[in-house]
Amino acid sequence: MERIDCDVVIVGAGASGLTAATKLRAAGKSVVVLEARDRIGGRLWTDDIDGAMLEIGGQWVSPDQDALIETLEELGLATYERYREGENVYIAENGERRLFEGDIFPVPAKTEGEIVGLIEKLDALVAEIDPDAPWAHPRAKELDEVSFAEWLGTQTDDEEAKLNIGMFIAGAMLTKPAHAFSALQALLMAASAGSFSNLVDADFILDKRVVGGLQQVPLLLAERLGDAVRTGQAVRTIRWTPDAPDAGVVVVTDSVEVHAKHVVLALPPILISRISYEPPLPRRQHQMHQHLSMGFVIKVHAVYETPFWREQGLSGTAFSPYELVHEAYDNTNHDDPRGTLVGFVSDEEADGVFSLSAEERKARILESISHYYGPEALNPVVYYESDWGSEEWTRGAYAASFDMGGLARYGADLRAPVGPIHFSCSDMAGKGYQHVDGAIRVGREVADEILGTS
Ligand code: FDA
Repeated sequence: MERIDCDVVIVGAGASGLTAATKLRAAGKSVVVLEARDRIGGRLWTDDIDGAMLEIGGQWVSPDQDALIETLEELGLATYERYREGENVYIAENGERRLFEGDIFPVPAKTEGEIVGLIEKLDALVAEIDPDAPWAHPRAKELDEVSFAEWLGTQTDDEEAKLNIGMFIAGAMLTKPAHAFSALQALLMAASAGSFSNLVDADFILDKRVVGGLQQVPLLLAERLGDAVRTGQAVRTIRWTPDAPDAGVVVVTDSVEVHAKHVVLALPPILISRISYEPPLPRRQHQMHQHLSMGFVIKVHAVYETPFWREQGLSGTAFSPYELVHEAYDNTNHDDPRGTLVGFVSDEEADGVFSLSAEERKARILESISHYYGPEALNPVVYYESDWGSEEWTRGAYAASFDMGGLARYGADLRAPVGPIHFSCSDMAGKGYQHVDGAIRVGREVADEILGTS
């Protein structure tokens, strides 16, 4: 067993862990980053699939994400706008394909009024929520005891309005059915992006992409850290002394033992309990970590010889709460003559298609995509499904959220250090929650916590 001594050992070479490591090293601390996978980046992964560059994980940058934008600037990475010229597509319950511009779907006038009213109500509630402390809202407990689906039912009886508003948070963000998470969790999701209106506005939330792919952020951070980053090092055991936090920690993989003053667990909170602790973590952590779970979504990539939908005057942006693929976008790479569409199949729909053979699943998904863009969409030259549910070191997508009642009950303790053990991840962020921006924010904050400057 190789022994390494350092000030801080970071477990996880995703955006969060690498940001913490970078900041700690800049402050003069010696760091080691241990990464289970044989690649850097965690949920950021830009890969070549059959000759097409695909963003298998996170990719979009929105204008409020200043921590991510600062990092992109520091690393010299350029961005470009998502293609959005032309009309969007909405598919109604009866299968009718309707074209529209702007944010409000082409639904009957009564439904439109209900949607606008719900957005206003949600914006007003979200304005009262501090994304860094949603549990501090005076009605936090009450809002955490009702599912988002039930809450919507108390606001309107218009099914299409409920489905559409539900879709923005459920299928599109937390990637869990709207009956499976609370109204408070939904409000946190919206507050983390500034307002509910921002989430509804695809031009805001899915504004830009990074030339060459977003995985360059963790790749370049790791490159600067050099030998301090070790891949293929799954952390199995952490030894610590509860009565003597200054005694530090020993972090053990199959081949390395790192002795440090602090450890940062920069991984999704659902993976914290995959590590053995000697002695065990306290009761509160044992309980709390059982109340978090990953959402589940299939990100589908379909590449065509040309972006044919543009010739039909379509932006590529498409939505329907009635379709297997509930949202889709033009995801053509910068300076690429080929056209790429990206679509999403969420939660129970994803369960459903994963019970089919790969061939049947592909046929069902492309059929749904063709309802938006026409029969040409049935024959991509490259087709790929990002399946994060099968990834041992992630186990779902996009991120983790609390079960009903969990956010009000445990939220305040999620990031509280336990002796020399600190926690960092996008899934624990306030602003930028579930996004790379949040991963970077929490990474910076945990470094400040260790440096004693927070
Ligand atoms: P992350 O999960 O990236 O890193 C944790 C690391 O810890 C991993 O590398 C893992 O292997 C490692 N690890 C786990 N257990 C370990 C152990 N025991 N020992 C050692 N290492 C261990 N965001 C966004 O801003 N815009 C977007 O468009 C999208 N879209 C999107 C699509 C898809 C399909 C996904 C899956 C995700 C997104 N996201 C996103 C979310 C975004 O990718 C995510 O929030 C951040 O990349 C998370 O970064 P973290 O560093 O917090 O965790």
